[in-house]
Amino acid sequence: MVSRISERIDLATGGLRMRRLRQNDWIRRLVRETELQPADLIWPIFVREGEGEDEPVASMPGVVRRSVARCVDAAREARDLGIPLVALFPYTTPSLRDERGTEALNETNLVCTATRAIKAAVPEIGILCDVALDPYTSHGHDGIMIGNRIDNDASVEVLCAQALAQARAGCDILGPSDMMDGRVACIRAALDAEGFRDTMIMAYSAKYASAYYGPFRDAVGSGGLLKGDKRTYQMDYGNSEEALREAAQDIAEGADMVMVKPGMPYLDIVSRLSRELAVPTFAYQTSGEYAVIMAAHQNGWIDGDRAMMESLSAFKRAGAAGILTYFAPRAARAMAGRPL
Ligand code: PBG
Repeated sequence: MVSRISERIDLATGGLRMRRLRQNDWIRRLVRETELQPADLIWPIFVREGEGEDEPVASMPGVVRRSVARCVDAAREARDLGIPLVALFPYTTPSLRDERGTEALNETNLVCTATRAIKAAVPEIGILCDVALDPYTSHGHDGIMIGNRIDNDASVEVLCAQALAQARAGCDILGPSDMMDGRVACIRAALDAEGFRDTMIMAYSAKYASAYYGPFRDAVGSGGLLKGDKRTYQMDYGNSEEALREAAQDIAEGADMVMVKPGMPYLDIVSRLSRELAVPTFAYQTSGEYAVIMAAHQNGWIDGDRAMMESLSAFKRAGAAGILTYFAPRAARAMAGRPL
């Protein structure tokens, strides 16, 4: 019996019933346009001095700072879960920090040591190292301060030396996250001059001055130190065209891949770059985004695991080639149907 309401609906829709393709799990899976995989994930890991227990990061529930040996364990775990790449960030003790971030150039610093250890034990996994001075400076900025300004060219000189130290340690991908002008060209030239032609560059191209980096700064120990803000080098969040110029410039200078950061509040930028520039575009789901989901989860206000998968899938839908996320191991376990 066809009711009057059904006739009216069929007239209005021309008989198209969109819900037909949602009626059960198998058809939803069959018509799904994008699907997250462990190979889409990049796992950021915090390295600390010394041995022993992992140290929790208070503002990032479930995230820890690990000894070098525990970083190797994480790399093994990543490999077993199908995560292709880990990103290393150091917690540098205040006594090793100075105005010029000298520790960044130390070939046996935490990042270089962890890189060597992971390369020796788990050679099948990729390692991404950040190029920026903020974990090493006494003022918490990414570059060299002259007076009260961050000097672009003096910073780039030091960043090239940092990049080389990391490449010599065996880093596969360098991620300049400093937002200095011309740094990609100079790092590429420095790498090539030493024969590191295969070392890749994933440029943090559209990196915005953001409130979402707060917990990360706690994790690397630069939060309390930062004088002022990073708005003279990181992008203004009112801008979209500028992101395109930044990324095009980094590609012209030799970047192999580009990145947008933060992630979720900037999905429009991820979508634009991935469509308009023919280059793999990555997104960084930052510490603050992670903290927001975890805090709501811990309060019982949202289902954190569902929010995790939904947020990561949004990056894929927007066109990201991959996502840096603190959820990486948990999301990969969820995808494999393993206990979380
Ligand atoms: C360093 C750097 C930052 C992040 C990655 N690399 C912080 C900053 O620029 O202040 C943030 C990562 C996160 O919030 O998860 N330049």
